[in-house]
Formats: sequence, C-alpha cells, structure tokens
Amino acid sequence: MNRQTEEIRYLTFALGKGRLASKTLELLEQIGITCEEMKDKSSRKLIFVNEDLKLKFFLAKGPDVPTYVEYGAADIGVVGSDTILEENRRVYEVLDLGFGKCRMCVCGPASARELLQHHEMIRVASKYPKIAKDYFYNQKHQTVDIIKLNGSVELGPIVGLSDVIVDIVETGSTLKENGLEVLEEICPLSARMIVNQVSMKMEAQRIKKLLQALKEAK
Ligand code: PRP
Repeated sequence: MNRQTEEIRYLTFALGKGRLASKTLELLEQIGITCEEMKDKSSRKLIFVNEDLKLKFFLAKGPDVPTYVEYGAADIGVVGSDTILEENRRVYEVLDLGFGKCRMCVCGPASARELLQHHEMIRVASKYPKIAKDYFYNQKHQTVDIIKLNGSVELGPIVGLSDVIVDIVETGSTLKENGLEVLEEICPLSARMIVNQVSMKMEAQRIKKLLQALKEAK
C-alpha cells in the first residue's frame, strides 16, 4: 500500500470508570490528546472519538478493562494495579501513571492481630479473593477461608462475617470511622497503563511515542 491510500488504524483506550478516568484524561490533555466529546457528562454515549488523532476512548468497569485489552477490543487500558493483580490477564503493564496511589492491606479490629500472628484458620472477606489467596497461601503460608464480597467490605468484621478483610486503604478514614485498622500491608497500588500484546508489536511506534510523552508529563 502506498502512503496516500494507507489508512491509519484507530488506537482504542479503555479507561476504568470514575476518578481514574478523569485523572487519565487530565494527563492525556497535558500531552495534547483531548476528547471534547467525553466532557459532556449528560451524554449516554459509550464510545468517544478523536478523528484528528485517530483515537477512540471508552469507559468500562475497572475489572473489565484488562479483559478488553487482553482480547484486543482495546489497544490500551488504564486501571488500578489492584485490578491488574486480581484479573491476571495476558497484557503488558507498561507504565505506572503515579496517581491513584493507595495500599492493599489486611485490616480488622486490633483484636485480630493475634489471629494473624498465630497462623490460625481465619475468615477473610475481600473484593479481591485472588490477591487475598495469594497473600495468605503463598506468602504467609496460612490456610484461611476466603469470602468474596462486592463492596463495603469493612462490614465483614463489624457484622461478624469475617475476622479480617483484604481491601484498599487510601486515606484510612473508612477504617477509622468503623473501628478497624491496618494489620498488615500487602503491597502499594497505583494507576497503571496496560497494552494488548499484539498492539504493542503492530502499533509499536505510536504506542512508544505516547508512553514517552506520558513519562515526560507525569
Ligand atoms: C474503597 C475501599 C475502601 C475505601 C478506602 O472503597 O474498598 O472501602 O475505598 O478509602 P479510604 O482509606 O480513603 O477510606 P470504594 O469507595 O471504592 O467502595 P466499595 O467499598 O464499594 O468498594
């Protein structure tokens, strides 16, 4: 194909809905990538296009972002490292965006500290069963009963569903307001950029240029 007839392919971004998406759009704006269409909060549109730069953007539930990227429905994704660890998809993690910083921790009432030290069989509630399992089974070598919850995980120890929780701690105020505390720290977390493995080869130049610009801006 000669240069004139060659069509530039759209690069598609999947962004985790919410604060991460807003922060990502701010960062992209800093490097000259804008998507005006996306700023209209009243719109029910799901996919947004920047025709000039041949880019598409869509918002998805965080845990679905690595899925879209693994299957190539999105070339690039932005999501928290908690989700990347939990979903364990075949994608390249290419950049720590430096925002959305928080920690994955084992939390509970102070009285649960002893249960952790003595490697007792305890109940662990979490939105992140894989991360919890990996931590207790492979790192601590402690057999535990993991209970999957979908949110408001702090309720677990309060209502007697579990002894502890494995959850994200940002400011720590949710824990504090509910009489819970950090008992053990599992790992630091932040927003990451992930790339589809085929796109990384086929669109290497465009993606590398984007990554370079992002590294300089962040
Ligand atoms: C997250 C997390 C904690 C809270 C931590 O919940 O699961 O509950 O934020 O933040 P903090 O340390 O600043 O208080 P999120 O608001 O995402 O909702 P969820 O409980 O429904 O998962």
